[in-house]
Amino acid sequence: MVQLRGSATGGSLDEIDAAVRMLLSLKLSYKTTTGQDYQAGLPPTDLALINNGTTKEEDEDFVDPWTVQTSNAKGVDYDKLIVRFGSTKIDTDLINRIERAIGQKPHRFLRRGIFFSHRDMDQILHAYENKKSFYLYTGRGPSSQAMHVGHLIPFIFTKWLQEVFDVPLVIQLTDDEKYLWKDLTTEKAYEYAKENAKDIIACGFDVNKTFIFSDLDYLGSSMGFYRNIVKVQKHVTFNQVKGIFGFTDSDCIGKISFPAIQAAPSFSSSFPQIFNGKENLQCLIPCAIDQDPYFRMTRDVAPRIGYPKPALLHSVFFPALQGAQTKMSASDPNSSIFLTDTPKQIKTKINKHAFSGGRDTIEEHRKYGGNCDVDVSFMYLTFFLEDDDRLEQLKQAYTSGELLTGELKKVLIETLQPMIAAHQERRKQVTDEVVKQFMTPRKLAFEF
Ligand code: TRP
Repeated sequence: MVQLRGSATGGSLDEIDAAVRMLLSLKLSYKTTTGQDYQAGLPPTDLALINNGTTKEEDEDFVDPWTVQTSNAKGVDYDKLIVRFGSTKIDTDLINRIERAIGQKPHRFLRRGIFFSHRDMDQILHAYENKKSFYLYTGRGPSSQAMHVGHLIPFIFTKWLQEVFDVPLVIQLTDDEKYLWKDLTTEKAYEYAKENAKDIIACGFDVNKTFIFSDLDYLGSSMGFYRNIVKVQKHVTFNQVKGIFGFTDSDCIGKISFPAIQAAPSFSSSFPQIFNGKENLQCLIPCAIDQDPYFRMTRDVAPRIGYPKPALLHSVFFPALQGAQTKMSASDPNSSIFLTDTPKQIKTKINKHAFSGGRDTIEEHRKYGGNCDVDVSFMYLTFFLEDDDRLEQLKQAYTSGELLTGELKKVLIETLQPMIAAHQERRKQVTDEVVKQFMTPRKLAFEF
């Protein structure tokens, strides 16, 4: 039986939200195991037949900005997602072109398919090759103080993009979104935004080239920004957002109009102080693929309000410790490695919770080898171990059975411990004063 949390007097909004999501995901699991839609009171029929592999694989993955779920231990089928979302795969040709344009080895996230899909990246490269400028836009919803390593993926990559292309960057902290979706006061959401900004700044962004803003703070003070919000609002119907985001008649109107707020930073005129009022600068958005619905909407509206469509680079999800069926979530402490974890916590969590693709006994493991496709420690190493040759050696040794799960976990622990300690050290240097500098609307070190 599903246990709904919350007392007899009623749970908090957050709890109800979580319970509803859990029910939806149970319905999905029901459908993936039985092949049938869940109907209360009606037990599944013909189970034996359905379990014989007649379940449609297309039905297995669920991805939207709030939920990521699949029944496949290897994780979401990203090739299918590309087809479903209508984006384009980042192939070797594109990676080679990026390498030629920047004259450097592409980031390991590109080399390893972690950023795997795009929209109009060829246009960005064309602009860059012709000495035309563009800017970067990414963001984060500050739902709590606790950020985990998965949250760093888009920021690590954005920092690299900023460095190699030398372009301005705007980072949106959607504290308004978290106020609307979670059980939070506006004050708390704004506080989380400033706290999260410290972790983002600790990724190494250049203060002269980066503007970080809280929606609650910046929106009201920027005419350019608000004008773009209403322009988007005028060109998207309720019916469209229902179709894209699954909103229903009982969602508050704040949620229904929020997508316009996440769309607005894709247009350079939202930041007159940075772009000197220029309206037609091309924007590139690195983000996890679950944010794509916002930008599909944005790209649809852009030409109708006289702006260029933003280009996109999409990343895969960062898997939970328990396995790639879902992404790492800050609300489940055991599913995540937090940026505040001590070396000891990191070690214990990995040893205790990281899903293993190894065999049950050492004898079997030596004989049949481990499975890197489902092994979470190996997946994490593909994100964080820089050395390509070492990664390949580990893969071969694990697959052949020469390397045991405990040994693979040790490599991961020794990779993450210094990385997180270094992050904590850099974060300590980020004072409130530094945060204020990044968050002050101002001209950046670029002429427009
Ligand atoms: N909605 C995103 C979240 O909840 C935050 C966000 C806003 C974002 N703008 C963005 C993420 C642009 C990526 C790119 O995390």
